[in-house]
Amino acid sequence: MYDLTALREEFPVLEEVIYLDNAATTQTPVRSVEAICDFFYEYAGNYGRGTHRLARETTIRCEESREELATFLGAYPEQIIWTGNTTGAINLVSQGLAWKKGDEVLCTALEHHSNLLPWMALKKRGVKIGIIPHEGGYVDPDSVSDMITGKTRVVAVTQMSNVTGTIQPVDEIADIVHDAGAVIVVDGAQSVGHIPVDITKMDYLAIAGHKGLLGPQGVGALYAEDPATLSESQYGGGTVTSVSFEEVTLRPVPARLEPGTPNIPGIIGMGPAIRLVDELGAEAIADHEEALGTALFDALEEIGLVDIFSPRGTPVLSFGVQGLHPDLVATRLDDMAAICVRSGMHCAEPYARSFCDQGTVRASVACYNTEEEVMILADTLREMLDEWDPDSEPDYVPEPDPWEKSKCP
Ligand SMILES: Cc1ncc(COP(=O)(O)O)c(C=O)c1O
Repeated sequence: MYDLTALREEFPVLEEVIYLDNAATTQTPVRSVEAICDFFYEYAGNYGRGTHRLARETTIRCEESREELATFLGAYPEQIIWTGNTTGAINLVSQGLAWKKGDEVLCTALEHHSNLLPWMALKKRGVKIGIIPHEGGYVDPDSVSDMITGKTRVVAVTQMSNVTGTIQPVDEIADIVHDAGAVIVVDGAQSVGHIPVDITKMDYLAIAGHKGLLGPQGVGALYAEDPATLSESQYGGGTVTSVSFEEVTLRPVPARLEPGTPNIPGIIGMGPAIRLVDELGAEAIADHEEALGTALFDALEEIGLVDIFSPRGTPVLSFGVQGLHPDLVATRLDDMAAICVRSGMHCAEPYARSFCDQGTVRASVACYNTEEEVMILADTLREMLDEWDPDSEPDYVPEPDPWEKSKCP
């Protein structure tokens, strides 16, 4: 196990709050923030354009981050395509593959909207979408075998659910997918950086920079086993070697899939963050997070009136408090003890709705959380319920906010 006290010094905000909303986004270490500041103060230039010293330095640093991510995954740098987020990575695949009417895509019933809507959008092109069922948050590979056909081109599956933290057998699923002549697209938003991830059998892996990898927001990446399988879905500067009004010559991958100026400070901030995760080690992180998830599960189980929707030991723990709206619980936890958790459908509405109407309260841990923090969550919940008079009108209703309507459910 790594030195938790030393690690927490990298995240000063952890002295102010109990941050348990890591499935939404994690905190970024000081070393990344400093690298971003150095970029702005010392050498800000554009990436891949220009021969002057600032442009050269910027390009070198961005490529170092690409190499860092590739090494972390066991990939080649050319197999890493920077995007703005996980969503961008999945869209790069859904828009970059060639489709014909009658093709089929299978998604699981557990998916985040980001690994569902890009595929559903293909219906406009005559692509059929099938939904693979789950049992208690787990997809049985036999269900994939049952549904896959000769027309299936893609099977899209999340490696770890962002609602209940369940882990899917992607290797076994990949074998079935490949035997049927299709490709597997793995949504690694919740797995990369949290558990060891083996890319050997993956055709595409969508990665969040701002979750398990501890990077800044606004960066994601796609790992593509063969990026040449993808066509460009956006065009522009940085993707070409020559242009005339008659003809365009594209640069090789990954450049032709990365049009326009990327999130340079974000990409530069990724390098030190990935190095930190690598130093801690994915195995050690997974063990630590599992221990925290288990401790929290056991503590919540002892509190009456709490329904736990995640299996014991997952790092993403969804629960409901009978009689109290999840938003109310989340807001109250913040007010009572500066505890930050997420409430709602977690942008995975079909899955969340399959076991609750109003959504869940979700506590999700990261490498820097402590057992003391998850125990404070349980104690605060107990205190909240002790004070609660179930017959009274709630005195405490979160203010409807201006973006309520557009809010990700
Ligand atoms: C499983 C899963 N997939 C996709 C996403 C979307 O990630 P991003 O916001 O980086 O696009 C999330 C975000 O929470 C997620 O948890």
